[in-house]
This record gives sequence, structure tokens and C-alpha cells, in this order.
Amino acid sequence: MTERTLVLIKPDGVQRALVGEVIARIERKGLRLAAMDLRTVSVEVARTHYAEHDGKPFFDSLVEFITSAPLVAMVVEGDRAIPAFRQLAGGTDPVEKATPGTIRGDFGLITQFNLVHGSDSPESAAREIALWFPGL
Ligand code: CMP
Repeated sequence: MTERTLVLIKPDGVQRALVGEVIARIERKGLRLAAMDLRTVSVEVARTHYAEHDGKPFFDSLVEFITSAPLVAMVVEGDRAIPAFRQLAGGTDPVEKATPGTIRGDFGLITQFNLVHGSDSPESAAREIALWFPGL
């Protein structure tokens, strides 16, 4: 089933010059880019995007980090794009959960700076795509 998912290459991924690496992995998997933009996000968008984490101990520093520098936002599409990108990304903790061969497993060390984000469900994808790319 063709799906769309919202992918972010977070500020750490941009600063470490991993944009091409991440896009190459998405394309080699057979997924397609439907939209892409380099932007610095507002605190309001960041808080809305991460609303489910509001109140958690890392929330404020996560919002501060994600708004601190440009990131790459993308809509990625293809068959089962939501789980397919999460497979490419690896688990949230780059050491304990992400395995070698995944983006986080290969390049990440610290959970907050885990390089990429991908929507975790069709409902999240619809909400996040509407937030980041209204009208797409
Ligand atoms: P992401 O997949 O974008 O979804 C929520 C983000 O919160 C996650 O990636 C991490 O960047 C961050 N995060 C999750 N858990 C923690 C944690 N325990 N400490 C710091 N940051 C976290």
C-alpha cells in the first residue's frame, strides 16, 4: 500500500553533513521524495510536532535543539513508507536500540541527537505532513 511519511534530518544530521547519506539510503530502499525543504523551524511548530512528548523531562531541550539550526524536512512516499523508513532509521536510542546498518546505528551515539525522525503511524504521518507541508 502506497503511503507517505514525514522525515526530518535533524540539525545534527545537517551539521554533520549526513544529508546526502540519508537521502541515498531512502532512494536505494526504493522510496521516493515527494517534497523536501531546508528550513529553520519555529518553536511553535516544534512544540506542535512533538506535542506527544510535552511534559517529558527532555521536551524543552528537544524543542531547543530542533529549533537551533536548519533541518531538512521531507515527505517520503512508497509502499509501506512509514515502517520502511523506521526500519532504515533504527530504534530511538542509537546505541541500545538501533542496530548497525541503520542510520542511527551507524552514525548516532546520543538519543537526543539521533539524526532523523520518521512518522510512527498513519495518523502521525497525516498530522505531521499537514503541519510541515500544508496543502501537499
Ligand atoms: P524522534 O524519533 O524525533 O522522536 C522524539 C525525539 O525525542 C526522539 O527522536 C529523540 O530525539 C528525543 N528523545 C526521545 N527520548 C529521549 C530521551 N530519553 N532523552 C533525550 N531525548 C529523547
